[in-house]
Amino acid sequence: MEVENRYVAVRHHVEGSPSEDDFEVKSAPVRWTPESGEVLLRNLYLSVDPYQLNRMKLHNASHRTVDPVVPGERIDATGAGEVVASACAEYEVGDVVAGLLAWEEYTLFRPGPATLIAKVDASSGFPLSYHVGVLGTSGMTAYGGFFEVGKPKKGEKVFVSAASGSVGSLVGQFAKLSGCYVVGCAGTQAKVDMLKDKLGFDDAFNYREEPDLKSALKKYFPKGIDINFENVGGEMLDAALANMNTYGRVAACGAISQYTDPERPAMPDMGEVIYRRITIRGFFAYDFITKFQEYVTIIGDWIREGKIQVVEDVADGLESIPSAFAALFRGKNVGKKLVRLA
Ligand SMILES: NC(=O)c1ccc[n+]([C@@H]2O[C@H](COP(=O)([O-])OP(=O)(O)OC[C@H]3O[C@@H](n4cnc5c(N)ncnc54)[C@H](OP(=O)(O)O)[C@@H]3O)[C@@H](O)[C@H]2O)c1
Repeated sequence: MEVENRYVAVRHHVEGSPSEDDFEVKSAPVRWTPESGEVLLRNLYLSVDPYQLNRMKLHNASHRTVDPVVPGERIDATGAGEVVASACAEYEVGDVVAGLLAWEEYTLFRPGPATLIAKVDASSGFPLSYHVGVLGTSGMTAYGGFFEVGKPKKGEKVFVSAASGSVGSLVGQFAKLSGCYVVGCAGTQAKVDMLKDKLGFDDAFNYREEPDLKSALKKYFPKGIDINFENVGGEMLDAALANMNTYGRVAACGAISQYTDPERPAMPDMGEVIYRRITIRGFFAYDFITKFQEYVTIIGDWIREGKIQVVEDVADGLESIPSAFAALFRGKNVGKKLVRLA
C-alpha cells in the first residue's frame, strides 16, 4: 500500500534572499508497508535553518557543507516524527524520534550508523519541539560552540550577533550562567527588550539603528570583547574584530549576512586578527555529536531549574515552510523557527 507524501522543493537554484515563490509543494507516493529494516515516520515538527540556503545555490562550493539540493527534489531538514509503520526490530509503531528528516509529511528511513535519527526519551517530559531545537541541533551548536570553541572564563566579555535567534538566544544565556558579561544585537526593539528583560543579557542593541557598528561595539564594550560568537559575518564580524581584546576568540558559527549576498564574501581584516592575536575557529554542530547526550542532559537540567528560557516560533502546516524559511533572512523569527505538521 502507498500513501501520498507531500514535500517542499525549490523550483530552481536560489541566489540572494529567498522568497516564497522559489518553492513549491509537490507530492510522491511512499510505501506504507516498509521493506525489511525500514521505518516509516509521520513527521510532526520540521525545522527551517539558515544553512539550507547555501545548499540551494548553484555556485555554493566555497561554503557548502553537504551536497546541493536538486530543484524539484526533497530537502533534508531536522525534525521530529512518530513511527507509523516499522519493519525494524528496534522501532515500534508509536515511537517518537528526532534527527535528520526532510521537508515532507512522511520520512522512510533505514536505521543504521549513518542515519542521524534517534529515539526521543519520552520520559524527559519536554515538549517534542524542544528535541528539534534546544535539545537538538540548536542546543548542540550553541553549547559546543560556546564552551568548546569560545572557552569562556568567568568575568569575560561576550558579544553575540543574531542574539534573539535559535542559537544566539541560548549562547547569551550560557554566557550568563558562566559568569560572563554578555551583550547581544538583534534587528528590532522588541527583540532587544526580550534579550534584556527575559533572557538576562547585560545589554543589547538594535544593529539596524546603529550607523556605525564599530562605534556601537566600542560603546557597549569599553574594555573590549573577549569572545565573539559570530552568527552574522560581513560588517558585523569586522566591527567585532576591531573591538576584540588581545588573544580574543571568535567562535565562527555562521555568516547569515553573506548567505544572501551574491557577491564574494567579505574577508575579515587580517590586520586586526594579527595585531590582536585573535583566534578564529569555525565549527559544525555535528563536530560535537559524540557529546550530544552529555549536552542534552546539562541543558535539560538548566531548563528544569529555570536557568534557561526557551524561545520558539512555530508556524503551522507543510505549506508554511517556504514563508517560515524566508522569514529567517528577514529577521521575522524570534527564537527557534519550527513548522508543526500535526
Ligand atoms: N555551525 C553550525 O553548525 C551552525 C548550526 C546552526 C546555525 N548556524 C548558524 O548560526 C546562525 C544563526 O542560526 P539560527 O539557526 O540560530 O538562526 P536564527 O538566528 O534563529 O535566525 C536568523 C536570524 O538572523 C538574523 N539575520 C538575518 N539576516 C541578517 C543580516 N543580513 N544581518 C544580520 N542579522 C541577520 C535575523 O535576526 P535579526 O536581524 O532580527 O537579528 C534572523 O532572525 C546562522 O548564521 C546559521 O547559519 C551554524
